[in-house]
Amino acid sequence: MNEKRFYITTPIYYPSGKLHIGHTYTTVAADAISRYKRFAGYDVRFLTGTDEHGEKIQKKAKEMGLEPIKYLDEMIEDIKKLWSTMEISYDDFIRTTEKRHEERVQKIFQKLYDQGDIYLGEYEGHYCVECEAFWTDSQLAEGKCPDCHRDVEDKKEQSYFFRLSKYQDRLIQYYEEHPDFCFPESRKNEMLNNFLKKGLEDLSVSRTSFDWGVKVPFDEKHVIYVWIDALCNYITALGYPDETLEMEKYWPANMHIVGKEIVRFHTIIWPALLMALDLPLPDKVYGHGWILFSSDKMSKSKGNVVYPEPLIERYGIDALKYFLLREFVFGQDGNYTNRGFLTRINSDLVNDLGNLLSRTVSMVEKYNDGIVPAAKVSTDFDKDLQDLINNLSVRFDDAMNRMQFNEAFEELWKLIRRANKYIDETMPWKLAKEEASKEQLNTVLYHLMEVLRVVAVFLKPMLSVTAHKILEQINIPTEDATLDSVAAFGGYPAGNKVKRGENLFERLDIDVEMEELEKMFGAKNEKAEEIEWKQKEEIGIDDFANMDLRVGRVLSCEKHPKADKLLVSQIKIGNQTRQIVSGIANFYKPEEMIGKNVVVVVNLKPVKLRGVLSEGMVLCASTPDDGKLVAVSADGVPDGCEVR
Ligand code: MSP
Repeated sequence: MNEKRFYITTPIYYPSGKLHIGHTYTTVAADAISRYKRFAGYDVRFLTGTDEHGEKIQKKAKEMGLEPIKYLDEMIEDIKKLWSTMEISYDDFIRTTEKRHEERVQKIFQKLYDQGDIYLGEYEGHYCVECEAFWTDSQLAEGKCPDCHRDVEDKKEQSYFFRLSKYQDRLIQYYEEHPDFCFPESRKNEMLNNFLKKGLEDLSVSRTSFDWGVKVPFDEKHVIYVWIDALCNYITALGYPDETLEMEKYWPANMHIVGKEIVRFHTIIWPALLMALDLPLPDKVYGHGWILFSSDKMSKSKGNVVYPEPLIERYGIDALKYFLLREFVFGQDGNYTNRGFLTRINSDLVNDLGNLLSRTVSMVEKYNDGIVPAAKVSTDFDKDLQDLINNLSVRFDDAMNRMQFNEAFEELWKLIRRANKYIDETMPWKLAKEEASKEQLNTVLYHLMEVLRVVAVFLKPMLSVTAHKILEQINIPTEDATLDSVAAFGGYPAGNKVKRGENLFERLDIDVEMEELEKMFGAKNEKAEEIEWKQKEEIGIDDFANMDLRVGRVLSCEKHPKADKLLVSQIKIGNQTRQIVSGIANFYKPEEMIGKNVVVVVNLKPVKLRGVLSEGMVLCASTPDDGKLVAVSADGVPDGCEVR
C-alpha cells in the first residue's frame, strides 16, 4: 500500500433541507485536512456526496408535491453550489441515486445473502424516520428516539436481516487491538459499553412499507435499508465490487469523519459489513462534536439555525472557515454565538494577522522603497521569532494529524502575535531615523517578511483566499509557497519587491454587525454573554493557594447505586486514583465521562454521599437558566498537573 495516500470521507448528506453551518463544519474540516495532506505530497482522495433514499426523503418530496428525483436534483444542485462557494476540494461526489452506486449496492446485498449473512425474517419494533434508525423497546428514551427525541413508529413487517450478532466478538476484539479505530475515546467507550458489550441483535436491512430505495435484487418488494445503502458509498465510489484499481489504491480509508450521533452506524454496522465482505476496516472513524446554538443542536424544526451563505456573503469564506476551525475543539461540542464569530474576525484576523501584514509591507515600502533587505546583523529580539519558525512545521503537522485545527491555528497565531510584539520591541520607526541603525532596521524588516511568508504557507491549505492575498503582497509566487520552503527560518528571497494591497479583512463595528446577525439568525444565542453576576467576598492569594486543584483523567464512571443524580467516577490524578461522586447524572451518561480530563479539587475533606465515599470534587460550570452542569475540561493536559 502506498503510504503517501490519504482517503478521507465526510458523511453523505441527507438532502432534506438547506445545509446549515453545523453540516458545513464536517466538510470544512475534511477539506482542511485534505488540502493539507495534498500540500504535504499525499495522493488524496476526498469523497463526499448525498444520501438520497429512504422514507424521510420520500416524505419530504411528497410534501413539496414533487417526484423524489426531481426534488433531489434541485437540492443536490444547491449543495454542490454551496461546496463550490466554499471552495471545497472534493475529488468525488457520490449520489446514492446514481446507477454506479445502486447496482453495486445490489451486488453487495446479493453477496451477503448468498453467503448466508442476510436472511429473511420479520421485524417488530420501532423506527425513527428522522434518523432512519431501528430501536428496540429497551433502547428507547421515555418512548422516544434516543438520538433525536422524536416520536417513533411501531413497525411490524417482513424484513431481511443482517447477522450483526455474529460479528459482535470480532468487533470487540478489533476495538481492543485497534484502540484508535473509534475516536474520541469517550465515543469508543460508549460504543463498547452501551452496544457491543450489551449484545448485538441482528439488524433489519430491508423495508417493504415504502419503495424509495435500492431494490433487493432477489425480492423486489423490499428496498434496502437506507443506512446499508448509504454506508456502502465509501466503497462503491471506489468501484467495489466491480473494479479493483481504486480499491487497491485507496481502501481501507484513512479516515471517516462523522458527527457524533452517527458514530454508532460507522463503528458497529459498517465494520461488521466490511468484515462480512472480507474487506479491511478503515483506520479511523473520527466522531466530531456538534455546533450548538443556544446550547441546543441546530435544527430547522427548532428554528435555531445559522446558514453559511449570508455569513460568507458578508464576511468572506475565510472568515467562516477560520471561525469553524479555530473556535471549536474538533471532537467536542461548541456553542455558536454571533458575538463569538465577530470577535474572532476583529481580534484574530483584523488585529493580529491583518495588521501584521499591512504594517510590515508599509514599512518596507516606506523605509526601503519596497525592496526587502537581507538580514546582515542581528538584534536582541530575533531569536524568539527564529525559534518559533524553526519549530513550527513539526508542531503544526502534529496538530493537523490529530485534527486539532484550533491548535494548528494557535501555533500560527503564536508566531503572528510574537511578530507584532517584535515590532513594538524593535521600534523600526526609531531605527529608521538614524543612519547608523540601518542594518538593524534591515534585519527587522527581513524577519517580519519571513514571518509573513511562513504564515502564508501554512495558511494556504486552511484559508487559501487569505494566503494568496498575503503571497501577492509579499510577492512570493504560489508555487514557491511549499511546506519544504518553511522547514527552517530564512527562506524569504532578499531583494524581492513588495507591494501593499488592500486590507486582508475590514475591521467590523461589532454593534452594527450584531444587529445584522440578529436580523439574520436571531439573538437568543447571545444570552450567555449577558449573564449578570455579583462578586463574592474578596479572598487573599493565600486562601486560593490553599486549594489544591489538579487535572484528573476519568478512568471509569458508574451511576450511584442509590441516587439518580449522582455519578461515581474513578479518577486518575498522577500517581493516585481517587473515587469522586458528582451530581452530574442529569447531564452526562457515565460513558460520556470516561476518558475526559477534568479539574479536581483534591484537598477537599472526603465525605460519604448516600453511602459512597467521595475523595474530592470535579469542577463544573453551570448555566444560570437551566442549571446545566458542564465539567470543566483540561483536555490535552497530563493528569496530575496542578491547576493554578
Ligand atoms: N445521511 C447521514 C449520513 C450517512 S453517512 C453514510 C446523515 N446526514 S446528515 O445530513 O443528517 O448529517 C451530515 C453530517 O452533518 C453528520 O456528520 C452530522 O453529524 C453533521 N451535522 C449536522 N448537524 C450538525 C451540527 N449542528 N453540528 C455539527 N455537525 C452536525 O447523518
